[in-house]
Amino acid sequence: MTDTRPVVLVTGAAGFIGSTFVDQLLANDTRVVGIDVFEPFYPRSAKERNLAAARKSSNFRFVEVDTRDHDALMDLIREVGPTTIVDFAARAGVRDSIRDPWLYIDINVRGLQNTLSAAAAVGAALVFASSSSVYGDSGPLPFREDAATGRALSPYGATKIAGEALVRAHHALTHLPIRIARLFTVYGPRQRPDLAVYTFSDRMLRGESIPLFAEGRATRDFTYVGDIADALVRLVNSESDDLTVNLGGHRPYSNLDLVHVLERNLGIQATLDLLPAQPGDAAATFADIRRAEDSLGWTPTTTFEDGIGAFCSWFRSERRVDGDL
Ligand SMILES: NC(=O)c1ccc[n+]([C@@H]2O[C@H](COP(=O)([O-])OP(=O)(O)OC[C@H]3O[C@@H](n4cnc5c(N)ncnc54)[C@H](O)[C@@H]3O)[C@@H](O)[C@H]2O)c1
Repeated sequence: MTDTRPVVLVTGAAGFIGSTFVDQLLANDTRVVGIDVFEPFYPRSAKERNLAAARKSSNFRFVEVDTRDHDALMDLIREVGPTTIVDFAARAGVRDSIRDPWLYIDINVRGLQNTLSAAAAVGAALVFASSSSVYGDSGPLPFREDAATGRALSPYGATKIAGEALVRAHHALTHLPIRIARLFTVYGPRQRPDLAVYTFSDRMLRGESIPLFAEGRATRDFTYVGDIADALVRLVNSESDDLTVNLGGHRPYSNLDLVHVLERNLGIQATLDLLPAQPGDAAATFADIRRAEDSLGWTPTTTFEDGIGAFCSWFRSERRVDGDL
């Protein structure tokens, strides 16, 4: 008998957040098609491990496709006919975007437009992974969704502003449902290796000092990846036609706080190298999450201590797999 249940198509499915979200969908018995191109920002082997659990599910199909390849993406999406597309495929990371802005524009803007064209071709709803970086440093804190955006601090932030604008133009033209999730500093198991939670832990376990920019005073609204996956499932199931929500832990911590929590979890005292602030980095991020609470019934439930504990367990096992201990 043919399976007629709706399909959710996830781009960037092998990445940190995408793969966690796919596992959550599969746990809810949803049919999922995941695509990824294993973009070489970090090793393919780590992304293959992210996909390992999903690949065991009969509800999951994986296809290696580049969102920049318009025809291949269009053919696949026409064949699959998803009811919803959740778009994580992007080059992330603020600092690299300053070195290579064209790569970010190519993936995060051109690739996204191809995904939107494909969504339009099959009439799919779209959930877009945007970022707190759309707010730049433009305060007041906490950031509310109706605050002005457009003052990006990096090419990465600028591509997310452009992405949101393209998603809204797509909605104006097609009237198809769109939901924009502005994610705030996501952390947890499968963490991207360029992010502070990962690099700090790596340096601590190697006995190296940690470069703390802005002397560790920059604050981030750290958000546990499991809480993010939960919110994104609610966004997929939402009835809303046009919704933009902040998804943040709603409890900012400084990078110095982060070091202390890692010290407790790893049982290692860190050596710190206090440095000035870096270009491209916001001084603070902090999400107003009332809209997500009201519209999705979502609230983050994982404490920073517990979330960092889960990260540290995963990090130790990941290093064993890589033969790094
Ligand atoms: N991690 C965070 O704190 C954070 C915060 C705000 C927003 N976001 C956004 O969430 C999304 C996921 O981020 P992540 O941290 O999981 O990053 P990630 O790098 O782990 O995941 C992105 C995935 O997209 C894939 N990809 C890149 N270009 C592609 C292309 N052209 N075609 C197909 N696949 C492609 C990559 O191979 C990777 O697996 C991104 O859009 C990112 O901008 C992340």
